[in-house]
Amino acid sequence: MIYLKTPEEIEKMRAACRLTSLTFGEIAKWVAPGVTTQRIDTIAREFILDNGGRPACLGYGGFPGTLCIEVNETVVHGFPSGYALREGDIVGLDLVVELDGYNGDSCYTFPVGEISPEVMELCKTTHESLYKGIDACRTGHRIGDIANAIQTYCERRGYTVVREMCGHGIGRKMHEDPEVPNYGRRGTGALIKNGLCIAIEPMINMGSRNIVIERDGWTCRTRDRKPSAHYEHTVAVIDGEAQQLTSFDPIREVLGDRFI
Ligand code: MF3
Ligand code: CO
Repeated sequence: MIYLKTPEEIEKMRAACRLTSLTFGEIAKWVAPGVTTQRIDTIAREFILDNGGRPACLGYGGFPGTLCIEVNETVVHGFPSGYALREGDIVGLDLVVELDGYNGDSCYTFPVGEISPEVMELCKTTHESLYKGIDACRTGHRIGDIANAIQTYCERRGYTVVREMCGHGIGRKMHEDPEVPNYGRRGTGALIKNGLCIAIEPMINMGSRNIVIERDGWTCRTRDRKPSAHYEHTVAVIDGEAQQLTSFDPIREVLGDRFI
């Protein structure tokens, strides 16, 4: 069941998403060689709590972090840990903040120091494919149009699309209907209407699309251990078009010319 949001609800979504994006501005300063992912997670949690939000992933189904930590071959849902980031790593930080009963969900894959040109290209393509998906999110289109736009863009450039994990509707709950896959056929799936709020989140691999879940029951990594990238925005459909509710501007301000 898809819950379309009223303009008042969308304003609450916007506020939650704004806090999500501002949190990224804080943690972006800490992404550097030698910093542990646990440290970054703590900084995110404290910033959210100081600003009246709730870290929605923490305790969700038993998840142990504020952030999902996605180092190199980790696709999604990695735990914060004592692992210290290393020059050349990429690290996806995936964050959901609840504010005043509504959720904002976003993910950005950061470079740690200098990264290889091949990995940079994977990140750039994944980030760009997110905007291809957002462009396709408009009234009259269907969810499959978003999925197809992302898939086509990435596969043409030689990358593969993770099948098992999807974007999703979002609102009072972090995960609502519909599922928003990153692969599929145009003209299929639910019709896009004004008031639809979804998180679009391409998860794109350099090698094969296959994944495995680690023994912790959460951490999802590529089977071939080649890198995977992940970018995500929460959007709302208003006057026929998708408006981004989350923004990477706070990250861009910190990273400057290192922004991917
Ligand atoms: N953006 C992630 C998702 O949609 C957030 C997961 S939070 C967790 O799956 F608690 F499930 F890890
Ligand atoms: Co999400």
